[in-house]
Amino acid sequence: MNGLIDIAELSIEELDSLMDVAEDIIANPDKYAESCKGKKLATLFFEPSTRTRLSFEAAMYELGGNVIGFSDGTNSSAVKGESVADTARVVGCYADIIAMRHFIEGAPFVADRNCVAPVINAGDGGHNHPTQTLADLLTIRREKGRFEGLTVGFCGDLKYGRTVHSLCTALARYKNVKFVFISPDELRVPSYLIYEVIEKNGIEYVECSSLDEAMPRLDILYMTRVQGERFEDKAEYERLKDSYILTVDKLKNAKSDMIILHPLPRVNEISVEVDYDSRACYFKQVLNGKYMRMALILKLLEGAAGHGISADAVRPEPLVDDAKGKFVCHNPKCITHTEQELQQAFRLLDAEKEILRCKYCEARAK
Ligand code: CP
Repeated sequence: MNGLIDIAELSIEELDSLMDVAEDIIANPDKYAESCKGKKLATLFFEPSTRTRLSFEAAMYELGGNVIGFSDGTNSSAVKGESVADTARVVGCYADIIAMRHFIEGAPFVADRNCVAPVINAGDGGHNHPTQTLADLLTIRREKGRFEGLTVGFCGDLKYGRTVHSLCTALARYKNVKFVFISPDELRVPSYLIYEVIEKNGIEYVECSSLDEAMPRLDILYMTRVQGERFEDKAEYERLKDSYILTVDKLKNAKSDMIILHPLPRVNEISVEVDYDSRACYFKQVLNGKYMRMALILKLLEGAAGHGISADAVRPEPLVDDAKGKFVCHNPKCITHTEQELQQAFRLLDAEKEILRCKYCEARAK
C-alpha cells in the first residue's frame, strides 16, 4: 500500500504527527511554500465535489506543486471502458501523487494496488472518506483539546455517510470514547462497523432515533446529509431526507461547549441560523481539511518513488482469497462487478462464525 485508502492505516501516533504538521503549516506557511516544487498531484474525480477536490488542489499549490486531473469522469477514457487499474497505472506515469474520488466502492484501493504513485481515497461511494476524517480530527483537537472521553453523536444518514464510517474507525481507538448513533431505522450504521470496529474496541454505544433525547449527553454532534444519490428507491429518499433538522431551538438542550460538525455539503439538516452559534464548527472543518491534506501530501511524498519511474514498477500480487472463490460480492456498487478480471477476494472476519467480508467494499457475504 502506497497511499491512504482507509483511515485505519494510520496509527494514533501518525495521526498526531499529521495534526502537528498541519498546525506548523498554519503557523508558518512560508516554510512550506516550496516543499512540493516540481511535484504534480492528479485529482481524478469521478463523482462531484467542491471541498475535497478544491482543497487538495489548493493544498498542492500552497506547497509549491502543480495539479493535473479531471473533475468529471465522463471526460476521461473511463467512458471508453478503461478500467480503474489501467487508469491509475497510466496517471502514475504523469503524476507523483493521486487523489481519487469514485462512486464505485473499492476503486481507490484497486488504483493504489496498480500504481507507482501513492493514491489517496477522496471518497469511494458510501464506503469511506479518510481525508474528511483528517479534517474532522484536527477540528476536534483544536476545539476540544482532546479525543479521550468524548461522547460523539452521529446523526442522519449513517448507512451511506462515508465520513461517519471513517471517523468512527479513527475515534474508536481513543480511550473512553462513547458513540450515540441517531438515525431512522433504514439508515442505521453498517453492521461491519458495529462488529469489527466498535465492539472489537470495546466502545460503549447506543443506537436511537431521537436527536432531542440524545442531545444533552453529547460533546460533539456530527450531523450528516441524507445521501439522495445513493438511494435505489427515490420515494424512500423523499420520505427520509428531512428526518433531522438542527435548529437553534433544538440546541437549547445541548451542552454549552458541545461542538457541531458536518462534513458538508448541507442541504436542510442544519438551519442557517445555527451558523451564528459559536458551537457551529463546520466551516472551520473546511479550512482544517486543506491543512491536513497538505500534511498528508508531504507525508506520502516522503516515501514515494516518483512518477513514471517505471511503467512496469507495479505488478500487484493477487489478493489472498480466504473464501476460495466461493462467493460473489452482493453489493452492486462494489468494484468487483465493474473491473475486468478482478479476483473475487473475501476476507474471513470471524473464523468461528464463518463471517466473510469483501476485501474491496467490506460488504458481508450472504
Ligand atoms: N465533505 C466533502 O467531501 O465535500 P465535497 O463532496 O464537496 O468534496
